Formats: sequence, structure tokens, C-alpha cells
Amino acid sequence: MKDENFLKANNARHMWHPMTHPADSLMNPPKIVTGGKGVRIVDVDGHSTIDAVGGLWNVNLGYSCEPVKQAISKQLDVLPYYSTFRGTSNDAIIELSVMLAEFFEPENLTRAFFTSGGSDSMEVALRLVRQFHKIRGEAGRVKFISLKKGYHGTHTGAASVNGNANFRLQYEPLMAGCYHIPAPYTYRNPFNESDPERLAQHCLAALEDEIAFQGAGTIAAFVMEPILGAGGVIPPHPSFMPAVREICSRNGILLIADEVITAFGRTGGWTGSRHWGVKPDIMCTAKAITNGYFPFGAAMLSDEIAETFENDKAGKANVASGYTYSGHPVGAAAAIACLKETLRLKVNENAAARGTQLHNGLLALKDKYEIIGDVRGGHGLMSALELTSDRATKAPVAPATISKLHEAIYRAGVMVRISGPNVILSPPLVIDAADTNAIIGALDEGLASLA
Ligand SMILES: Cc1ncc(COP(=O)(O)O)c(C=O)c1O
Repeated sequence: MKDENFLKANNARHMWHPMTHPADSLMNPPKIVTGGKGVRIVDVDGHSTIDAVGGLWNVNLGYSCEPVKQAISKQLDVLPYYSTFRGTSNDAIIELSVMLAEFFEPENLTRAFFTSGGSDSMEVALRLVRQFHKIRGEAGRVKFISLKKGYHGTHTGAASVNGNANFRLQYEPLMAGCYHIPAPYTYRNPFNESDPERLAQHCLAALEDEIAFQGAGTIAAFVMEPILGAGGVIPPHPSFMPAVREICSRNGILLIADEVITAFGRTGGWTGSRHWGVKPDIMCTAKAITNGYFPFGAAMLSDEIAETFENDKAGKANVASGYTYSGHPVGAAAAIACLKETLRLKVNENAAARGTQLHNGLLALKDKYEIIGDVRGGHGLMSALELTSDRATKAPVAPATISKLHEAIYRAGVMVRISGPNVILSPPLVIDAADTNAIIGALDEGLASLA
């Protein structure tokens, strides 16, 4: 490794960082992470912190998962790459596809389309949905409806269903035919409704209204995260997603569950859809499928979609979508090892228990600190604090204050993620009770330092 002065001197000088202003990276150079062990990371100065971000919602098994490292290394020795485009396959990807069909059997998602990450999974899902309707003779079903505050990646199709202006404005015009309804976000919503169940009803009414306005026969799919993640961790009322499913089915609209964050245990259920008792038509996965050890993803397809394609005799079902790295054997080897570890360790159960512990800790902090306007979570290991400079008006906190807080929490031994006014927490699912308490303690220390 290069020596530390070289790294600091060149930090952000010759690369642009995603999701920030290039000038900001130069003025506030990023923390240089040089190591990871268990649930901890270490920076170039040797400062060790609990990674309460879990990489980027993806390192569910932590940084020392030997079986995954060994599987990758072994696969590299045997076959580092071969394409799965028409006419060829590889042994690792076949094995993985069978394992995923078993894992997603409760949702009836039995076919995988492999990708290199979450944006890819979303992009291909949008394309396959339109194609599905064309195969069935409903070529007019081309539009998408999704939730405001939703995040689905930054490819142009997926970004068009994103529900946050940040990811949209500088890149418009985006894909035509994408419409949005209010998110079930109790802290701020156009209905001024703080009761989750009643708010869910308002959002559902907005969905029905939008479908009627657009014409049901023009809509290909509704897209949603079972719990909105990057938008600030927004769990809907339990009635919401099942009712969305019913509305979609009644109108011939497919349901795409974007589970790039929520698949593989994060919510305390094995998937977010399963957590709410819903079977989507397509589920987009990535992140924890390989735990960050290899860039990889899969769009999982229901039997009905699969059979429509497979039984097509008109040639309309030729899948003219795919990536060089679709079905990458090293990614497949990593995913097989991750899935085995994920199941063996029952990380969903730990996510549920530690998630409740974390949520209760955050609620206690809200009682102590005025700056916390809202605490969200309570469904596994995904939580957020929304900070405000005034609880009465809900005015957002000043960016300088939240930067100061971020640094203070880091100094207290925990890496958290800041997104607008939100402190987002998504630690590895293998975290134990002591480290969960340590996260709460570091937040406490950081918040106290603002006084
Ligand atoms: C719900 C959701 N969908 C899609 C994506 C995009 O995934 P990727 O960054 O792997 O392209 C993300 C990334 O955070 C996500 O949270």
C-alpha cells in the first residue's frame, strides 16, 4: 500500500466521488478507509470505528467472512470469467440460480436475471416489464408509477422512477411516462397526517387516483421499496404494501419490489416483501447478495412472468437486455457462499433483535435531545434520525451542524451515514448487543457535543 502522506495528498484529486460535488470532496477530503474486520473499519490514521453504515447497506456479514473470501479465491483459480450470453453458461451461476429459486420460493420468484448491481437490476426489471406486456398483447402498458422519496439507482430508466429531486433535476429530461405518488412518510406529507394507518390510506387513494387518471391500461408497473431506504428509512404501515399488491392485481399492473437493500434479512424478514406478506412480480436484489465482496445483483422473476416469456412463440420474448458481467462466475461463487452464511447464521433473526434494541435506543435519545425531530425504523437493522433546528416548525437542521455531529460520532467510534437532515444507520446484520449499545452510546456522545 502507498504511504499515508501520498494517500492524503492525492485524496479526491484525481477521482470524482459519487453523490457529491467534486469541489466538496476537495475541500472536505473523504475519510480514507484502509481496513475492515468483523463489524469494524479502520482509517488511514489507524482510527477504528464500528461501521454502522454496513458498507452501503450491503456488508451484512461484516468484513471477515472467510467462506466468501475463500469461495472468491477458489473461483478465480478455476474460472475467473465466462459470459452467459446466448450459448454459454458456467457452473457457479447454475448452482446459484437453483439456490435463489429455493430462497425466493415463498414469493414464487423462480427465475433470476443476473446483473452487476442494484441500478442494473432495476433497469432490466423496467425493460422486462414493458416486454412482458408486449408479449401478452398489451403494448400500451408502458408507464410506471412509484413513490416519492423512493431511490432506485441512477441509470436513466431507474432514475426516472426515483422520487427525490436530487437525483433527477440535473439529468432531465428523464424517461417519459413515469409518475409519482406521496410516500407513507408520517413526519412530512401533503395530507398533514401523522397516523401511519390513515396516511397509508391517503397514499393508496392517491395511487388509485393516479391509475384512473393515467388509465390502468397504460401502466406497466408500480415500483416500491418495501421500506424506503436512501430516502430516509421510511417504513410504511403494515397495511400499505398488501393493499398496493391488491390494487396492482386488480388493474393488471405488475408490482416491482426494489429489495436492493431489504432482501436477505435486513428488515428482520428474509425479504421486505415477505415481511409485509406480499408476493411481488419482480424483485430487484443486489448489495447483500454478495455482501459487497463482489459487484453483483439479480432481478428475480415470478413464475407467471417467466412462463409468459418462455411460452412465447411469436419471437417477442427474445431478451435483448444483458450485461457483460451478467452471471459472472466469481460473483456467483461469492453469492453462493454469502447465501449459505446468511442462512446458517440466521442473520434475519439477529437483525430483528438488534433492530429493536437500536430503535429503542434511538427513541430514548429523542427524549433527551430536541434536535431529533423524528426517529424511524423498528423493522430490522435500518433506522434513521431526522434532525431539525426547530421541533415545532420541523425546519431542517443546518448542514454545518450535521457535519459536526457526523465527525463527533466518528471520533466517538462509530461511522454513520449522513443524508440531508438524516442520520442513517444500517449496520452489518451480524452485529452483537454490545456493539449495538456502542452505536447508541456514540450517537449520545455526538449529540451531547452539540450543546
Ligand atoms: C433501493 C435501492 N435500489 C437501487 C439501488 C442502486 O443500487 P446500485 O448502487 O448497486 O446501483 C440502491 C442503492 O443504494 C437502493 O438502495
